[in-house]
Amino acid sequence: MTSILTINDVSKRFGGLKALTNLSFEVYENQVTAVIGPNGAGKTTLFNLISGLIPIDSGKIIFNRRRIDHLKSYERTKLGIARTFQTLGVFSNMTVIENVMLGEDIHAETGIISTIFNTKKHRKEEKYIREKAVYWLNRMGIEDVKDKNISEIAFEKQRLVEITRAIVSNPKLLLLDEPAAGLNITETRSLISKIKDINDSGITILIVEHDMDMIMEISDRIVVLNFGEKIAEGKPEEIQKNDKVISIYLGTTY
Ligand SMILES: Nc1ncnc2c1ncn2[C@@H]1O[C@H](COP(=O)(O)OP(=O)(O)O)[C@@H](O)[C@H]1O
Ligand SMILES: [Mg+2]
Repeated sequence: MTSILTINDVSKRFGGLKALTNLSFEVYENQVTAVIGPNGAGKTTLFNLISGLIPIDSGKIIFNRRRIDHLKSYERTKLGIARTFQTLGVFSNMTVIENVMLGEDIHAETGIISTIFNTKKHRKEEKYIREKAVYWLNRMGIEDVKDKNISEIAFEKQRLVEITRAIVSNPKLLLLDEPAAGLNITETRSLISKIKDINDSGITILIVEHDMDMIMEISDRIVVLNFGEKIAEGKPEEIQKNDKVISIYLGTTY
């Protein structure tokens, strides 16, 4: 197993609050790794630190054998890290395909000048991005709504648009923050098969999710956080019978 992401002794505080304390774990290439834990455990903070939205206080983050914790968010995107947000991150007043094509903009080689003058290279690039967007919209089962305004389509499809946009940026690692939140059982089943399909295409996945059935079904490995500390790590069947994990989840609503 090759590690694609190493979280090494990472800590983050917000004032007096320890959001993450000396956290270490590995994400292995081509696997689905899940991060679970009660609300406030530090899961979204972890994603914010990996994607570079906020800086770490101490420790190291290594992606593909390269230290990335000092890099800007867009530099990490270029290296192959994409994410979705716990609260929907789509742009209203844009069509579905426009939303998805935004994912690739970060890689666009031709700059603003060629956009203004609509150069041949720019047109070729735009055509390629559009084809890739259509390909993934189709693979995610939402090609039929590609020309609709994002606000006209169902919530489930908006969520899939956000995921599709992340994929179109060619990530090696995709971070999904509670992708099943707000979805019903049928929609969640369908999302599970889509996440498996994304993973099968060669994209490593790090997922935060409350839906335990989903986590147990799709994860190769699970990391359990509580109050910013790792309390368990292992295969789903190991986590299911871990006493510490059971005691945290007993009496909670999930
Ligand atoms: N930007 C921030 N400023 C201050 N406190 C924050 C910030 N982000 C998160 N927190 C706090 O850090 C803790 C962990 O939050 P979060 O990472 O969102 O948890 P989770 O995603 O596991 O529910 C919570 O107590 C939360 O209130
Ligand atoms: Mg969260």
